Amino acid sequence: MCSQNFPLGLSYLLVKPSLLALEIDWPSKMSKRAGENKLESWMLIWKEKTSGGSRSSKTFKPKKNIPEGSHQYELLKHAEATLGSGNLRMAVMLPEGEDLNEWVAVNTVDFFNQINMLYGTITDFCTEESCPVMSAGPKYEYHWADGTNIKKPIKCSAPKYIDYLMTWVQDQLDDETLFPSKIGVPFPKNFMSVAKTILKRLFRVYAHIYHQHFDPVIQLQEEAHLNTSFKHFIFFVQEFNLIDRRELAPLQELIEKLTSKDR
Ligand SMILES: *[C@@H]1O[C@H](CO)[C@@H](O)[C@H](O)[C@H]1NC(C)=O
Ligand SMILES: [Zn+2]
Repeated sequence: MCSQNFPLGLSYLLVKPSLLALEIDWPSKMSKRAGENKLESWMLIWKEKTSGGSRSSKTFKPKKNIPEGSHQYELLKHAEATLGSGNLRMAVMLPEGEDLNEWVAVNTVDFFNQINMLYGTITDFCTEESCPVMSAGPKYEYHWADGTNIKKPIKCSAPKYIDYLMTWVQDQLDDETLFPSKIGVPFPKNFMSVAKTILKRLFRVYAHIYHQHFDPVIQLQEEAHLNTSFKHFIFFVQEFNLIDRRELAPLQELIEKLTSKDR
């Protein structure tokens, strides 16, 4: 996929300046790039990291871009603006007159990009040795199957599982028959069930990060960002009933904690 694109749009960074904290990951490289401004060099390093060569590049996926000027882009901007208002319950609601499929599509792409980035910050800690199986605490273990190419679930390490998962999600998002980006092209009849499967699987990455890698998240000062991203995700799936309650069980306590204040 288009590796010449910056995986992070500039607008996204301006909206979420806290993400600049990610540069903590590459301090030595950062300092070698005197003369370039911070944002530019950060993006260059990100690009290097995502375009092959480094060990982490397998798990980093290029950002899925929503083209500027499109209606979906307007929706994304709307979502970001209402998020800024601080009322997450309101922010996740379907904006008046909008199509539910399109709203779910735009937000699903955004969650994929956020999770990709959050997991990207801790890939160095999620290895074959640290995580020989994909788990979310001692009670939950996941085996990978996508239902089409891999029918019989494979038991594999967390980094492999998450690579399968993110690659699979990316393939769905890039499929124009599932996620049409052109005006007037309708969403398929099964769109909502595809979106539900995507969100169900993306949830597992949050669950793995919270259960197995919360310490580095704190050290990288990404904790507030992770909480906000996850809370937004949960409010969104609750609003439209997109993930079964039992799928959310690995983080049930956290979900109750994060959402109780807003009830
Ligand atoms: C993130 O959420 C956890 C669980 O609710 C909480 O213990 C922690 O204080 C939160 N951190 C921040 C920075 O909001
Ligand atoms: Zn791990």
